[in-house]
Amino acid sequence: MPKVAVIGAGTMGHGIAELFAMAGYEVALVDVADEYLKRALQNIEWSLKKLAEKGQLKEDPSAVLSRIRPVVGDVCSAVVGVELMVEAVVEDIEVKKRVFAEADRCAPPEAILATNTSSLPITEIAEAVKPERKTKVVGMHFFNPPVLMPLVEVIKGQYTSDETVKKVAEYAQKLGKQTVVVNRDVPGFIVNRILARVNEAACWMVARGEATIQEVDSALIYKAGLPMGAFILMDYTGIDVICFIGDAMLKRGFKSHPCPLILEKCQQKKYGVKSGEGFYKYP
Ligand code: CAA
Repeated sequence: MPKVAVIGAGTMGHGIAELFAMAGYEVALVDVADEYLKRALQNIEWSLKKLAEKGQLKEDPSAVLSRIRPVVGDVCSAVVGVELMVEAVVEDIEVKKRVFAEADRCAPPEAILATNTSSLPITEIAEAVKPERKTKVVGMHFFNPPVLMPLVEVIKGQYTSDETVKKVAEYAQKLGKQTVVVNRDVPGFIVNRILARVNEAACWMVARGEATIQEVDSALIYKAGLPMGAFILMDYTGIDVICFIGDAMLKRGFKSHPCPLILEKCQQKKYGVKSGEGFYKYP
């Protein structure tokens, strides 16, 4: 059975592990503590049951789950024998570089090392690996929830080879995803670059008293045809993640006019669904 490793079992990591297991891969899923892995496996089980109820799963949920091996902390043992690693840890360049250095040390020489970063430079992450691995470091950016969102951005850093981009696009297709290759490692790639502007515009309208949160979201859902309004989506993504992305993009020279309402929510730790309150309240 082909093997992959997913590093980080949070919102994105658990969904990415689920997708690979559904596609028949043996998956090592790594996180720093047993409790995070337990929660990830519970979330995967819930999601697989949902898909099974709707006839969208080819096999029994337990068969898919049995292909996911939780691993506490040890990136090195998780990447032994893998053809691909997907890193989905916190958006902190130093943490990501540590994961890549460790994976580089222990993964087979031909293995591709991908990052699910939303905003950090692929080229800088690639600095953590040996020169001969640099062509195999690439962005593989999923969207939340990975199991349902059809798109994967495949991002080419300065060293990434065309062969690596091609292989990662093939992996994404095996997971049933559409791919867009992002040829320039620019802040926010394509989707987050545009979403940042949408969120900023939505937020400033409310901050200036031109519209309410509900009015903006209703307009986006009922007129623009989006599945979620800007504020609902920020709550769903996690306002802490929105702040991380905004900050990382600003540091990389993206010209923006950060909206105080988003910054306030971050300061108050009102991150959205995950904390029970963001722009809306969650029971
Ligand atoms: N696995 C399986 N089923 C799931 C699921 C999951 N992970 N998450 C939700 N579902 C199910 C729900 O339980 C629900 O099932 P029932 O019909 O049985 O009730 C069904 O999917 C539909 O969900 P909802 O009724 O909650 O709502 P919905 O019809 O709006 O669909 C959605 C949910 C697919 C998430 C949709 O709202 C959507 O597409 N939203 C936009 C999400 C988006 O834009 N994500 C990208 C964010 S940006 C990002 O991720 C990038 C980044 O770098 C930060």
